[in-house]
Amino acid sequence: MSNRLPWYHRTTIYQIYPRSFYDSNGDGIGDLRGIIQKLDYVRDLGFETIWFSPFFASPQQDFGYDISDYTNIAPEYGTLEDALELIAAVHQRGMKIVLDMVMNHTSSEHPWFKESRSSRHNPKADWYIWRDRPNNWKSLTGGSGWHYAPERKQYYWASFLPFQPDLNYRNPQVKQAMFDIVRFWLEKGVDGFRLDIFNAIYKDAAFRDNPFAWSLLPSESNPAGFFQRPEYNLNLPENFILARELRQVTNQFGEKLLLGEVSGGREIIRKFLGEEVNDGLTLVFDFEMMAFTFTAAYFRRLIGEIEKHFPPPFMPVYVFSNHDRQRSIERLNGDVRKAKVLHMLQLTVRGVPCMYYGEEIGMRNVRLPLSTALDPLARKYRAIPGFVFDLLKMNINRDEARTPMQWEAAPQAGFSSAAQTWLPVHANHTFVNAASQSANPDSLLETIRQLLKARRQWAALSEGDLEWIGGTPPDILAYRRTHPEGTLSIFLNFSPQGQSFAFETGKVVFKLSADDGPEQSGRIHLGGYGGLILAAP
Ligand code: GLC
Repeated sequence: MSNRLPWYHRTTIYQIYPRSFYDSNGDGIGDLRGIIQKLDYVRDLGFETIWFSPFFASPQQDFGYDISDYTNIAPEYGTLEDALELIAAVHQRGMKIVLDMVMNHTSSEHPWFKESRSSRHNPKADWYIWRDRPNNWKSLTGGSGWHYAPERKQYYWASFLPFQPDLNYRNPQVKQAMFDIVRFWLEKGVDGFRLDIFNAIYKDAAFRDNPFAWSLLPSESNPAGFFQRPEYNLNLPENFILARELRQVTNQFGEKLLLGEVSGGREIIRKFLGEEVNDGLTLVFDFEMMAFTFTAAYFRRLIGEIEKHFPPPFMPVYVFSNHDRQRSIERLNGDVRKAKVLHMLQLTVRGVPCMYYGEEIGMRNVRLPLSTALDPLARKYRAIPGFVFDLLKMNINRDEARTPMQWEAAPQAGFSSAAQTWLPVHANHTFVNAASQSANPDSLLETIRQLLKARRQWAALSEGDLEWIGGTPPDILAYRRTHPEGTLSIFLNFSPQGQSFAFETGKVVFKLSADDGPEQSGRIHLGGYGGLILAAP
């Protein structure tokens, strides 16, 4: 293969939520040794990069997104030695490892914050954001993000929840300390970072009030909410500069992946990648697509928009689920045929695919009552009846998409030997599980494995440009991936009805079902929810 692009623009990403992947010591919680035991599964599936949600030392109030020591491991997950072994084990299998770096905030249990809050005059007094009086800013989770600390008779700012105080990057020592942590892990050999709420890191130096906006709740496409536009606490110009500074740090270690969790519309999130050249973060998530509708028209528009905003030398990311959102198959009413089409698109379009563990077998959300939620976001709102969030189509209880990986039709889905796991295993694990799907060529798992294989074989899929194929019926999405080593044509049928249309035929590289393929010369047939990849003859 030619490798025209840096590896981080060609790769495929699998997200592991360590708490729910595999429990090796029978305490009901996943751990690093468990992950090591299951790495062959990820390699055999065909992903090239694994992103791990945080496993650093943490009081686990937000399950690792509240870090109390960035260079140590939470004991329930293992030790630093285990983490080093994990890095080596991922590399031994030819894959890359990406850690989750929470730069915006620490846990309130972090020694830096304990010192900072202890008085107004201590060496870390301005490592966090302290004010005598709050302004009108709302946190990302609703309500004021200012919290009173009686020790200092001042308020500190927390973009997310009160136990996650934001660091003050206007203090150069803070930036240096965080860059040192980044270097620590790069020296240990990791291949990059996913960057938690990266666009929240800088706040307005003058703490100006945010302007009013007619918006009750923020959405994937519009960060305005709680009746304000987050003009002074999100996406500040200094944030785009920080992206470039961080890139300079990681460049010292070779080609490293930097994947930003950012929000605010495509014009804005593009800025994190660099102005004209690829000199900022190497990738950003586009969360608008999390709210996809399953139609050819939706995806035609989406891909058009994405191509417009992320042309070469930039590369988009295609992501439909993660540990904060519902599982993608929920949007498809559990229909596996539709899930195959969705993931075929994700793995053949121009972009880096990022898949959350369990998506490959069609794991569903587990319905769980708000009243017993472990997720701190859900707990914040637990007084509100659950149906209100259902009506608003809000996935407030993130526990529902974080349940244990379903390995096999065994007690606890083969995830753990414990009588009780930290979150319950889905009752459907008796038929939705990796073992049963591995043996079945028609399964979602095997479909994804075959598509990942095609992606590794055909440079067109990882590196090719994207062109539309016109003249197909409205329910068909058709595009070409062009590449000097061979061009591929991809056809996806978003309707339950079979479709037939004229197209010069080619060699079949992949098809979703036996119904899909070239017919007598000059026509192509796709079964309901069919999919086909043809190579130019
Ligand atoms: C990000 C994480 C989420 C976490 C929050 C605060 O959105 O994905 O899980 O709760 O940041 O760190």
